[in-house]
Amino acid sequence: MKKNGEMNMSEQGQPILILREGTERSRGSDARNNNIMAARVVAEVVKSSLGPKGMDKMLVDSFGDVTITNDGATMLKEMDIQHPAAKMMVEVSKTQDSEVGDGTTTVVVLAGELLGKAVDLMDKKIHPTVIIDGYRDAEEQALKTLEEIAIKVDPKDKKTLRRVAQTSMATKLVSGHKEYLAEIAVDAILQVAEKNGEGYKVDLDMVKVEKKPGGSLTDTALIRGLIIDKEVAHSDMPKLVKDAKIGLLNAALEIEKTEFTSKISIETPDEIQAYLDQEEQTFRDMVKKVKDAGVNVLLCQKGIDDMVQHFLAREGIVAARRLKKSDMEALAKATGAKVVNGVEELTSADVGYAATVEERKIGKDKMIYVEGCKNPKAVSILIRGGTERIVDEAERSLHDALSVVKDVVEVPKIVAGGGAPEIEVARRLRDYAEKLVGRERLAVSAFAESIEVIPMALAENAGMDPIDALSELRARHAKGERWAGIDAYDGKVKDMEKLEVLEPMVVKSQAIKSATEASTMLLKIDDIIASSKSKAPPMPPGGGGEMGGMGGMGGMGGMPPY
Ligand SMILES: Nc1ncnc2c1ncn2[C@@H]1O[C@H](COP(=O)(O)OP(=O)(O)OP(=O)(O)O)[C@@H](O)[C@H]1O
Ligand SMILES: [Mg+2]
Repeated sequence: MKKNGEMNMSEQGQPILILREGTERSRGSDARNNNIMAARVVAEVVKSSLGPKGMDKMLVDSFGDVTITNDGATMLKEMDIQHPAAKMMVEVSKTQDSEVGDGTTTVVVLAGELLGKAVDLMDKKIHPTVIIDGYRDAEEQALKTLEEIAIKVDPKDKKTLRRVAQTSMATKLVSGHKEYLAEIAVDAILQVAEKNGEGYKVDLDMVKVEKKPGGSLTDTALIRGLIIDKEVAHSDMPKLVKDAKIGLLNAALEIEKTEFTSKISIETPDEIQAYLDQEEQTFRDMVKKVKDAGVNVLLCQKGIDDMVQHFLAREGIVAARRLKKSDMEALAKATGAKVVNGVEELTSADVGYAATVEERKIGKDKMIYVEGCKNPKAVSILIRGGTERIVDEAERSLHDALSVVKDVVEVPKIVAGGGAPEIEVARRLRDYAEKLVGRERLAVSAFAESIEVIPMALAENAGMDPIDALSELRARHAKGERWAGIDAYDGKVKDMEKLEVLEPMVVKSQAIKSATEASTMLLKIDDIIASSKSKAPPMPPGGGGEMGGMGGMGGMGGMPPY
């Protein structure tokens, strides 16, 4: 395709343009170093928040909304990171979050360190491909070690599960109430766990988490059923219904407004009356339909006309309107009701069941509790707490706690925390590296050293000297103390299993997998081609080009010449 004589120009020895003007390209070690630097900066940022003594971050978004958090994935999400390689670190923490729910800081710190050590190796003229191979080999060995050292547990043992939940919350703002919240998390997960072959399966969506600022964290409660953040539509409706027959409706109980402005011409008072009577009859028919289906609790995703509310109340039917779609879906699952798309379709076959439906006052608001549902696997947690930010962070921490309990219920293997498994993995990796020959050995050793960044960061954040801590840890592991780790509260090296700081094995193995994947991916890149940001619209032919001299009018370059 010839355009603007490009071809002719090339024939005269000029370069052929294959990329849009303004595209930036960097190659080889430049490209790699750029990427690595960006990723390491991200890792540095989150490192100080690792562990029980880690710091929290305050993030302010472009609307001025403040988030205070210690959660790796949340921090990175809120940071609005632009650099493509740095974004990969955000992705890594997201993956960790969705796969296992915890360890989102660990994975980023680990990936950063793997990259740092890779740079040292590249400085020694070791080719990235060799490093990548070494890292992959080391990853495999590390995962094997984790499997070997992990402790098998009973997936229904509440005590162990509570300990695991507590460890995940020990590093959060809500750590003061970790015992209380851990119990709730464990009870919730055990309630929804389903047998799956030999083991169990947990669907986290079955645990509905609602939050309401006010009260204190110890007012947080587990509800065996669902809570809906809505109030009963009309004050004359009962506040409590036992033996609730629940109808779920995804349609408005109103007279539909037409899309276009329409006019009704009424000429006599009789006609007005007839019109109103007809409207009333329509509403009465709607209520009759509901009643005939045997419904005594009607939950509606759309609006309900005042008059319909009034008629429903007169029939003793409780109703709530404008429910969220997700609530409707959860209610359908929990009560066995079917969401119908029009009141005329509602029949007794669509009706669900719950032992009680009650409106309760929570702080200044009211919420609807649907308890004793047909499906006993539906549970909710209502989080309370002093301020909105505490409630928000409590929700995130509870997500971690629920996830780690789920992890252990599904894969009943645990390790102790405080950096103990990392030191053990590193020690065995070094032994393994001894047997290797060639340059790959250096890469495996570098991997071993990288993984020690976790105990080092824990020690540093706990105010200990990281180098001293590391040498003590290495020495004690060499003596066979498998679970020697950093007791962050005491600032000493201790047996973390005895301290009952326990974590799911899968959190550690997923972190190793994702960090290796991300770091090797960045190491493999040797060319970055970044297209320029979208530019101002092109100037019309023949116009605008000479307008440069118009000073402040430069921005009007796209205007046609007059
Ligand atoms: N009492 C404790 N003493 C020492 N280390 C602990 C203790 N409790 C937890 N840890 C350690 O803290 C680390 C986890 O810290 P943190 O929860 O801040 O980060 P994360 O789990 O990687 O990421 P996130 O929780 O943000 O998803 C783990 O290595 C864990 O073993
Ligand atoms: Mg954690």
